[in-house]
Amino acid sequence: MKIAQILQLEPQQQALTVQGWVRTFRANRFIALNDGSCLGNLQCVIDFEQTEESLLKKISTGAALSLSGKLVASQGAGQKVELAVEKISLLGAADPEEYPIQPKKHSLEFLREKAHLRVRTSTFSAVMRMRSALAFAVHQFFQQKGFYYVNTPVITGSDAEGAGEMFRVTTLDPKNPPQTDEGHIDYSQDFFGKETNLTVSGQLEAETYALGLGEVYTFGPTFRAENSNTTRHLAEFWMIEPEMAFYDLNDNMDLAEAFIKSVLGYVLEHCQEDLAFLDERFQKEEQAKPQQQRSSMGLIEKIRFVVDHQFIRISYTEAIEILKNSSPNKKKKFTYPIDDWGVDLQSEHERYLVEKHFNCPVILYDYPAKIKAFYMRMNDDQKTVRAMDILFPGIGEIVGGSQREERLDVLEERITAMGIDKKELWWYLDLRKFGTAPHSGFGLGFERLVQFATGMGNIRDVIPFPRTPQNASF
Ligand code: 4AD
Ligand code: MG
Repeated sequence: MKIAQILQLEPQQQALTVQGWVRTFRANRFIALNDGSCLGNLQCVIDFEQTEESLLKKISTGAALSLSGKLVASQGAGQKVELAVEKISLLGAADPEEYPIQPKKHSLEFLREKAHLRVRTSTFSAVMRMRSALAFAVHQFFQQKGFYYVNTPVITGSDAEGAGEMFRVTTLDPKNPPQTDEGHIDYSQDFFGKETNLTVSGQLEAETYALGLGEVYTFGPTFRAENSNTTRHLAEFWMIEPEMAFYDLNDNMDLAEAFIKSVLGYVLEHCQEDLAFLDERFQKEEQAKPQQQRSSMGLIEKIRFVVDHQFIRISYTEAIEILKNSSPNKKKKFTYPIDDWGVDLQSEHERYLVEKHFNCPVILYDYPAKIKAFYMRMNDDQKTVRAMDILFPGIGEIVGGSQREERLDVLEERITAMGIDKKELWWYLDLRKFGTAPHSGFGLGFERLVQFATGMGNIRDVIPFPRTPQNASF
């Protein structure tokens, strides 16, 4: 039986068997056993006089055990029930001289080096259970709304974001690649007969499905070879990308806001134990920070705030005005000062808007065309596009999306102006030739959502095996 279930039972001398890993072993008598099913451990009491000395020696933190016995009322404080053990089977010992996860506080940095074992700590097991619950909530939200889940390719020949930050996929010999007469690498001899990469986004393919199935979403891995060594960037991350026919930008913003509130509401309801633990951890971490950087709210309070409050919606142009006149800008505190309309916003600006000015999630829309991707719908001012980003406290950008350019001539013009090869996008342009329709979508970075919901400061700690520059261990 799983420990999560056992801890809900009334003690009635029931006979049962549990299997899990030892968290602590005290006084040759008390085993705190955890099986990952919940945060709590089951206290298991053994009769050491009846237990062989050689077996007792092998019961240590990290060992896998199968324990059978009777469930009785606990004598000690802190738990309602305990297992009076009658039979112990050692499934696998963990030599205490070597086993790195000891019952004491380990730093997150240390645990990143032990990513294959860190899920056996309370913090990481709580984070990963929350991650799983959030993934379920994502599917539930869209499925209940009648969206279809589509799987877009991981290997692609197109650069969806046009940012050129892609990992190449090839089977050519790196030492001696075939060459064309002009001395370029001859990709016609590569596995796919052309240059291919790991996808940076499933959006373009999702658009084709939206213009047939109506409302769809993807939820899959995406890859970016950007050399960003920050607490918010991964080279491999998971993205949720809904794409909807007949939605304009306002419909898109409404959906994104409802979506985020729904999945956060789900964990508030279904992950109470893990959330309470992570909240305590979060508040301790915040206490260690200098006063000005401290979050004014606890973790659960923060999540509830987002669920209960309307997101602020302002245009890029309004945001620039606020930033231009802000005190950090006037006092030259920004690394990138805001002088003119048209500049890209850096995370320091986004955080100022969200954490200082509004103190609330913010949706920015109608960005300058120059700083956004080719597929976003041009506004009548010919300067801005129907883009929207959602900015979150402590996270920055959590969602990026837009209404898509559905007019063939306008889209072709943008593609040419941005120096993108039209040939690769023939199928994307076909959508605008055959039954084109207004449509919109967005992408939500799943790990940034998990970060927000768990209060973890570093994105490397919310995905089992993070991939970042210079790091692809495990
Ligand atoms: O803003 P981005 O680049 O938008 C797109 O890829 C669009 N094709 C989405 C769409 O409209 N269908 O990325 C979307 C989100 C960001 O807001 C951020 O949350 C996350 O993906 N993201 C990353 N998360 C972790 N590590 C990275 N390197 C990320 N880059 C983007
Ligand atoms: Mg973006």
